[in-house]
Amino acid sequence: MRLDRYLANAGVGTRQEVKKVIRKGFVTVNDEVITKADTSIDDQHDIVYVGDERIHYEAYAYILLHKPEGYLSATEDRDEKTVMELIEGFDHRDLHIVGRLDKDTTGFLLLTDDGQFTHHLTSPKHHMGKRYHVTLDREMDEDSLTKLRKPVIMDGDMTLPSDVTLLSPRLVEIILYEGKHHQVKRMIERVGYTVAQLHRVAIGNVSLGDLPKGSFRKLTLQEINELKGVS
Ligand code: URA
Repeated sequence: MRLDRYLANAGVGTRQEVKKVIRKGFVTVNDEVITKADTSIDDQHDIVYVGDERIHYEAYAYILLHKPEGYLSATEDRDEKTVMELIEGFDHRDLHIVGRLDKDTTGFLLLTDDGQFTHHLTSPKHHMGKRYHVTLDREMDEDSLTKLRKPVIMDGDMTLPSDVTLLSPRLVEIILYEGKHHQVKRMIERVGYTVAQLHRVAIGNVSLGDLPKGSFRKLTLQEINELKGVS
């Protein structure tokens, strides 16, 4: 990869800014000052400094956001607030959202620029469970709970079996292994209830933990591998 692209991807600055920094002799690669922006870099092995700062290159960004209600899961929108407004320091990345949440849904939302990662997580083939906590408009009875566990036809297809647990009379946990549009709300409505509040707590074994609402953090390497299914 070219040195200017490497530095821009690492968040040092825009492509134009890093070109200037390189030209002025602020960049060293393996202890040698490099002034040519098109110098080829091995992102796994080369040791790159800008001034006194060691550059830690990450090929992709993996961000976990605790989405508050009232934000659209979109990268841009003319009229509404989007989750991108809550993410800082990643303007140089072409982030997209992995598995959107409705505007009024809160919780676990991933953003990345790694298309393969997104494909892996959203493909039903990989059985990555999306865990939701659903607060209902009223207490759920046994009969409805049994119905909720049964696959139904949705969008012309049978839903995959989901795991359904009653956590308290008005709180149900649903783990989905696919992601049809408004799936949780539609499942709940089919058995005669309304979703009062919907919150995603985890995907696979990675959970929101105590990340405050509206905050984000980078996933750890272990979490990334877990979600990629390579741990
Ligand atoms: N199912 C829904 O109905 N809404 C969401 O935001 C996520 C899953």
